[in-house]
Amino acid sequence: MFEGIAEKARKALIAKYSLENLVVEWRRPQESAHGDIATAVALQIAKRAKKKPQEIAEALCTELKSASDVARVEVAGAGYVNVWLTTEALLKELDMTEAACSPQKQKKGSIIVDYSQPNIAKPLGVHHILSTVIGQSLCNLHRHLGYQVVSWNYIGDWGTQFGKLAVAWQKWGESKPVRQCSLDDLLELYVRFHAEAEKTPALEKEARAAFLKLEQGDSALRVFWEGVVQVTKTSLKEIYDRLHVHFDIDIGESFYEDKMEPILEEGKKKNIFVQGEGGALIVEFSETQKLPPFLVQKGDGATLYATRDLAQIRYRSDTYKPEAILYVVDRAQQLYFQQLFATVERLGWKPPQLEHVVFGRMRFADQTMSTRKGTVLKLEHVLDEAVQRAKTVIAEHRDSIQTDDESVLAEMMGTGALVYGILSQNRKMDLVFDWKNVLALDGNSAPYLQYTHARACSILRKAGPKDTSSLRNVDVFTGYVFTDHERSLIGSLLQFADALEEACVQRLPHTLANYLYGLCQEFNSFYNSEPILKAEEPQRTLRLFLTSLTARVLKTGAELLTLRVPDRM
Ligand code: ARG
Repeated sequence: MFEGIAEKARKALIAKYSLENLVVEWRRPQESAHGDIATAVALQIAKRAKKKPQEIAEALCTELKSASDVARVEVAGAGYVNVWLTTEALLKELDMTEAACSPQKQKKGSIIVDYSQPNIAKPLGVHHILSTVIGQSLCNLHRHLGYQVVSWNYIGDWGTQFGKLAVAWQKWGESKPVRQCSLDDLLELYVRFHAEAEKTPALEKEARAAFLKLEQGDSALRVFWEGVVQVTKTSLKEIYDRLHVHFDIDIGESFYEDKMEPILEEGKKKNIFVQGEGGALIVEFSETQKLPPFLVQKGDGATLYATRDLAQIRYRSDTYKPEAILYVVDRAQQLYFQQLFATVERLGWKPPQLEHVVFGRMRFADQTMSTRKGTVLKLEHVLDEAVQRAKTVIAEHRDSIQTDDESVLAEMMGTGALVYGILSQNRKMDLVFDWKNVLALDGNSAPYLQYTHARACSILRKAGPKDTSSLRNVDVFTGYVFTDHERSLIGSLLQFADALEEACVQRLPHTLANYLYGLCQEFNSFYNSEPILKAEEPQRTLRLFLTSLTARVLKTGAELLTLRVPDRM
């Protein structure tokens, strides 16, 4: 925000106090009575500059008084500097907000986002939604800000569970081809395998043998496996479409089957993969790293999840030369990723920045995460329930909610409520999911955001085709004094670009959600206290412009969070 002023302040302070470098942070004050932007820099540099904060703040005030965009500047409290901007400057700065609504043209580096990552042959469970929507929103944000993004579903399509499924298929599978099975059919077989294996432990051995055969290239098993992959991908696509989730690549673990050998060789040669118990290969870390040994090959020569991840890092680095790879994965794998990344370092590779984007557990406020049978709650069912509940909300508000197509709106509201209910919480914490809150028409929820967007659109429809060109003719606004509500709304709109940047850089979608919530509140209080359509010119044009910019920001922000917003509701 306000680069010109920020730079002037920075340069002046550096020169005056002979500082080497300095970052001056400007924030929008909590209370509008404290100006449009404020900084606590005087307090922060007092020690370094060996001056009283008050004194530094006064000096900064004097400096900024003459800046062209500044209307007023004051020292407050122990050394804060509060700045009020001119009408022209505020209006002009809104261009930045408009620009932030379109994808950035300036090209940045490329990154890979590894997310969703279900293990196939099983339906998605409700917990899969976390990685899926956090990952997708991070892809969207990076793309919007100009990064080249490769969105990657690293599916778990390899491992002994396939042996189990293959054995169950041979023993109890129906006569129809595997491609005609549903995921539920496959899940049933899998569950049956586990039940039977309790009674007949020899089945486990059979399963391992079957997987070994698959690894060795048995053609019948290969056909079966391909069928299972196909069935899973088709059923996944349906849910991903509903969630507006899209992958560029869905190459899973199996792809690395023939890419692990050279890495095992390299590790052995470099003496980093050393003999562990029973002929296994492990990596040992130094005392200071405080990490337990990392298993990269089992005693029987079998590779593991970890071996595939090493091959995956090698392959992605060589093929895409990304700046960073983000792994959006549950907290349960925190230690695992530390070991994995430390191993890469030990191997002396020059990998991109590797980052585990960790998230906590989710629980329902009033429901358990598993079904009565003890299996996980299916994501598809939770989505259906969300839509069903949205229908009830629509029915209960029949007099205030208008829609041309109730089922479209219910789908948008229900899935949106579920997704926003997750993305509006800090991913680093455990998440609590409460149906009442996520579907509330007021509060930090998807329906509130959707309703606010629809309200803004409705005003714009009533206004007819708008012409805001006079806003560009700043003369019209010379001497114009914003009302408090206008000024506050402008202040909130001006923060959009920073909110996007922060959510992206910190990998924290909830900061964007919180920003959008704040904007909704500003807009609604503006709408409730100021006439828009009945205002006099040039105020009417200005207010319509603010309304339309609010609608654009809400829509852009919501879509980056994978939500959709209605024009009418
Ligand atoms: N499929 C794995 C699981 O369910 C998560 C994969 C995460 N990505 C990775 N590159 N390891 O635990």
